[in-house]
Amino acid sequence: MGRKFFIGGNWKCNGTTEEAKKIVGTLNEANVPGEDIVEVVVSPPFVFLSFVKALLHSNFHVAAQNCWVHKGGAYTGEVSAEMLVNLDIPWVILGPSERRLLLEESNEFVGDKVAYALSQGLKVIACIGETLEQREAGTTLAVVAEQTKAIAAKIPDWDNVVLAYEPIWAIGTGKAATPAQAQEVHADLRKWIHDNVSAEVAVTVRLIYGGSVNGTNSKELAAQPDIDGFLVGRASLKLEFVDIINAATVKKN
Ligand code: PGA
Repeated sequence: MGRKFFIGGNWKCNGTTEEAKKIVGTLNEANVPGEDIVEVVVSPPFVFLSFVKALLHSNFHVAAQNCWVHKGGAYTGEVSAEMLVNLDIPWVILGPSERRLLLEESNEFVGDKVAYALSQGLKVIACIGETLEQREAGTTLAVVAEQTKAIAAKIPDWDNVVLAYEPIWAIGTGKAATPAQAQEVHADLRKWIHDNVSAEVAVTVRLIYGGSVNGTNSKELAAQPDIDGFLVGRASLKLEFVDIINAATVKKN
């Protein structure tokens, strides 16, 4: 059974109205495979979400970069899952390493966020990944399994979750994991899911890779059997995002 290729473009805390308009214009005019081949989701900062959603071609979708862990209320500066649903924002990115490290979001907190977002009808791109120290200590699988377990413990099913493996040492460094390194973790993770969640989820859940994906390395990474797409940071702000989307065609051969 095929897992549809998934490309997320995380703009992080970047962009102006003019830049957003330009990026969306490029995407709308790009020659890329249709929705039957690749699911494309772009994630601008909250303030540009509605603007980008209104401009984007209907083949492309939008994701928020965060949402509050429970129902909204007296939480200054937060945005609730209910608000995203109200604005017809289908996706949200949760658990990126920047929030885990800088804002000290724990595995349990991320698990709670994923569960709450799903309960409100959002689809979730859940991020996991190890530090360089953890990789060098040989604990990569233990770390990503622990992060995945904290999510699995809180959610009823994985139908609306895409799991993004993003080694922290590869994010924003220009030093992507090699296709073999990424494939190894994806295969291990899929096996972990098989053994600890279910055989069915192991086959159906999309495991995407993030960390210095660009227009050049995306094809070889996409060719790996357990890589079902990408979460792209810096390159999602540039023209090469179109090349990354086109890497989806590698799977069709
Ligand atoms: P990068 O970011 O592509 O800029 O390395 C990846 C990410 O954090 O999703």
